[in-house]
Amino acid sequence: MGCFPCFQKKDQVAQSSEEKPKPAPSSEPKKQNSGNVKKDNSKENSNRGSEHIAAQTFTFRELATATGNFRADCLVGEGGFGRVYKGKLESINQVVAIKQLDRNGLQGNREFLVEVLMLSLLHHPNLVNLIGYCADGDQRLLVYEYMPLGSLEDHLHDLGSDRRRLDWNTRMKIAAGAAKGLEYLHDKANPPVIYRDLKCSNILLGEGFHPKLSDFGLAKLGPVGDKTHVSTRVMGTYGYCAPEYAMTGQLTLKSDVYSFGVVLLEIITGRKAIDNSRSGPEHNLVAWARPLFKDRRKFPQMADPMLQGQYPSRALYQALAVAAMCVQEQPSMRPLIADVVTALSYLASQNYNPNNRTFQNSSHSPRTKRDSENKRRI
Ligand SMILES: Nc1ncnc2c1ncn2[C@@H]1O[C@H](COP(=O)(O)OP(=O)(O)OP(=O)(O)O)[C@@H](O)[C@H]1O
Ligand SMILES: [Mg+2]
Repeated sequence: MGCFPCFQKKDQVAQSSEEKPKPAPSSEPKKQNSGNVKKDNSKENSNRGSEHIAAQTFTFRELATATGNFRADCLVGEGGFGRVYKGKLESINQVVAIKQLDRNGLQGNREFLVEVLMLSLLHHPNLVNLIGYCADGDQRLLVYEYMPLGSLEDHLHDLGSDRRRLDWNTRMKIAAGAAKGLEYLHDKANPPVIYRDLKCSNILLGEGFHPKLSDFGLAKLGPVGDKTHVSTRVMGTYGYCAPEYAMTGQLTLKSDVYSFGVVLLEIITGRKAIDNSRSGPEHNLVAWARPLFKDRRKFPQMADPMLQGQYPSRALYQALAVAAMCVQEQPSMRPLIADVVTALSYLASQNYNPNNRTFQNSSHSPRTKRDSENKRRI
């Protein structure tokens, strides 16, 4: 990992036997001890209302108790790195999500460490809050705020009978919020952070569909000084990975913008980035969308049929235009995430009413230049 001391937020950092990053020197008063020192959780209860508390350590026993010994009915999801359980931590009187990483060697441990470091340093309303972690023996668990509405993926694809389709306004709100989370990583964190794993299952939803980015285990510090990219092993998720990154391993902020474009396309079309039930060009969302982008008359065909035509045509064009720019082959042609935020915040502020098919503008005019025109891991 690179130079974490450059971040402005400096809280506790974790250490492992493989990597021992130094605690960040800080001009701010330290909120807690640094290093992997077990702390008495009861002493910290006074701090717990704060969004910005440092990650704290939990014992394995505490987390086992919180989840009824990792009972099957507490399981809320499973990803490539392990299982996620819903639990209640009595000591802090909070419902949490506990991710138990598979104990399969160094890679999982590195990602665990990066996740703890990144989320201890980065704080934004559109990033998931890491409450703490457990590194007892060979156990690696992460404790997050519980996001009651699950992931965006759960609301877009393979909807269960208990889930309603997302309406247009909610989709734009989620897209704008996710873009703001990414803008914070790219433009506010110093040095910038390349997220590297943007996809629908990593956009978690809170009350009122407030979106937060999660899973920072693959995140990388971006290039500093004159460098234009960082070189890394290609990792991420098939279907979301920018073509130049997949081919050369050269990672830039624009690789995240590409992944964001794929997510935005999923939000608009309701299709999966990679759909194994479809063949030919329909298998890959970007390959399917590219020829359609060339003809604006085809844009209505791209809207999610689940919307049942209840979307504003002009906003559909604009949202698709943003997605098209983000997934361009050439990274230099893709927009900066700040411009994407401007465009999507405008679309999210336009409250579409499907009953009388009108807008209620709840904010100012956009500042976008172009407004007039318009799970397989690697
Ligand atoms: N903080 C949370 N609150 C509520 N549910 C969560 C939380 N974190 C994860 N989940 C649920 O658990 C599921 C699995 O998450 P996880 O991050 O382990 O895997 P993934 O994102 O689906 O895939 P990958 O491992 O490839 O990133 C998510 O899709 C989500 O439904
Ligand atoms: Mg995830």
